[in-house]
Amino acid sequence: MSCAGPQSALSPAGRDAERIATLFFWMAGGAVVIWLGVMGSAIWTVVRPERAHSKRTADLFIVGGGVALPTVTLTVLVFYGLRMMPGLLHPGPDLEPRIAVSAEQFWWRVTYRVDGAEPVELANEIHVPIDRRTSFALTSPDVIHSFWVPSLAGKVDAIPGRETHLAFEPTRAGVFRGACAEYCGVSHAWMSFHVVVSSREDHEAWLRRQAEPAQPPEGPLETRGAELFQSSGCGACHTVRGTPADGVIGPDLTHVGSRQSLAAGALDNDVDGFERWLTATDDVKPGVHMPAYDALVADDAHALAAYLEGLQ
Ligand code: CUA
Repeated sequence: MSCAGPQSALSPAGRDAERIATLFFWMAGGAVVIWLGVMGSAIWTVVRPERAHSKRTADLFIVGGGVALPTVTLTVLVFYGLRMMPGLLHPGPDLEPRIAVSAEQFWWRVTYRVDGAEPVELANEIHVPIDRRTSFALTSPDVIHSFWVPSLAGKVDAIPGRETHLAFEPTRAGVFRGACAEYCGVSHAWMSFHVVVSSREDHEAWLRRQAEPAQPPEGPLETRGAELFQSSGCGACHTVRGTPADGVIGPDLTHVGSRQSLAAGALDNDVDGFERWLTATDDVKPGVHMPAYDALVADDAHALAAYLEGLQ
């Protein structure tokens, strides 16, 4: 069905999205009733026999249909809409933001605050437990972006120099797609992410895995890729925890191979995807800050791609 899918506000998978969908259906229903009324009146004026209205009927039409009806309808809809807003924006009295999201041209830096331990950083992917309210703190170092997961909640802007907040409570497990909903540059359309909703146990296990340092490379190809990663200067921008690479400009790559997609939804997460990203970066995502390593010989690009894909 065209209204379903992993990125549809009309197929909600969270409490906030359910309320927004309900509001939408009431608004759409109201619009249909008004449309029928207007079209009915228009047709009636055309087909009825010509004769003058009495003064009373004319007044009733103007005051009733032109003043009373729109005022009452719009007032009811405004108050109905306003009533749900505080609940959508505020996370709840004792809910600290657990996940910090920094929207950057053109990817999402995601940092989990973990009690009594170092924060865990990853990119373009968020995992949350089902049936529990999770709160987010949003910001941006460059321009205004907008964080939107239509299946789970409404959208909130990520604004440079400010921290905005959003919370949602998923009610259905699955993988949902989020997108940047504010034009932020040439690759705005290539700035998506995934939200994985799972049981609390699965979520905790996933977070423990993400907190671990990177696995050492397995085969000879991956080992050569790891050496190339260090010698080519990739570590100046990227961190791979457990190795000397500790750059903070680009995405943390410690477990990059385990993610749903590459380059914020632009490519499949496999060896071919990594190779394409390394050698044709600017073609895949115009305006991206990462330079294309198109001078890499094919063998080297393949080894690097195999190493990165192996970072599970
Ligand atoms: Cu970021 Cu549009």
